[in-house]
Amino acid sequence: MIGAYGNIIGESVEKSAKFSYEELANATDNFSLENKIGQGGFAEIYYAELNGEKAAIKKMDKKASKEFLAELKVLTRVHHLNLVRLIGYCVKDSLFLVYEYIDNGNLSQHLQDSDRKPLSWSTRIQIALDSARGLEYIHEHTTPLYIHRDIKSANILIDKFFHAKVADFGLAKLIDVGSSSVPTDKMAGTFGYMPPEYVCGNVSPKVDVYAFGVVLYELISAKEALIKDGDEIKGLVALFDEVFDQEDPKEGLKNMVDPRLGDNYSVDSVYKMAQLAKACTEGDPQRRPKMRSVVLALGALNSDTENWDLLLRKYCSFESIMPAR
Ligand SMILES: Nc1ncnc2c1ncn2[C@@H]1O[C@H](COP(=O)(O)OP(=O)(O)O)[C@@H](O)[C@H]1O
Ligand SMILES: [Mg+2]
Repeated sequence: MIGAYGNIIGESVEKSAKFSYEELANATDNFSLENKIGQGGFAEIYYAELNGEKAAIKKMDKKASKEFLAELKVLTRVHHLNLVRLIGYCVKDSLFLVYEYIDNGNLSQHLQDSDRKPLSWSTRIQIALDSARGLEYIHEHTTPLYIHRDIKSANILIDKFFHAKVADFGLAKLIDVGSSSVPTDKMAGTFGYMPPEYVCGNVSPKVDVYAFGVVLYELISAKEALIKDGDEIKGLVALFDEVFDQEDPKEGLKNMVDPRLGDNYSVDSVYKMAQLAKACTEGDPQRRPKMRSVVLALGALNSDTENWDLLLRKYCSFESIMPAR
């Protein structure tokens, strides 16, 4: 079985350490329940202390070998302040990935968990900017380029300074230079975050832009990407689209803002973030901005010094007439 991972692991080995199962078991108190910090479909995440460093270990079923290899491949090649750092791996009866430990849980927990202090509006902008930078990096500055394909608040980790890092690259796909989209074998991702073109089976970086727009709506409203409305299930995008269709969207938006923010936000700033989210979640992928423009817009919103409206108009409409990359 290990042989099946030979090539890719061979190429990764220089950059990330290979751990023995015993080392990982020791570091997690034999993968004890007390050390468990996360649970996914095929994976469990454990807190660990490894060589004096705090770490997180993802223990994956062998069925998830595709996800294991995807994540190992991306994270050994790609390094950025706003992407979670891989320390090493291990292949035994299960597959293991070892990451730097990020102290403050994931964004979804911060938005949903009433035991946690609510995130301030400025922290929300910072988190949006950090994750946008991480995404821009894999979309535009790495060789090869990657699409994450599972951007959502649960895959954005928050460190002790409330900076954000993008995590969970199990579905990541690489894009060949010069091509704008890649055909995909099956639909993958999370409902509520998937754009309409996804059903046709072609994915491009604009898939991540759409999902990122949903995360922006989550930051504004602290609502989940899919909301139960009686017997109906509604997407956050549809809910915000309705607000934008109202006569006075700015007024309507106030009812969507996370109640835990109280009055501690600027309506203008929320409106701008919502406009950006709307551009990111356009039905037509070509009309969505690139992450580069999203970073510029959020940077301006963060510093509040630039003429934001001008920026949004310039970059979003500019890209809508440019061919998608
Ligand atoms: N490096 C890390 N540091 C701290 N917590 C982490 C780390 N990686 C993952 N987690 C926690 O575990 C959860 C699941 O991790 P993730 O990589 O998204 O796995 P899955 O593929 O199961 O979704 C995250 O939402 C987060 O709460
Ligand atoms: Mg995840």
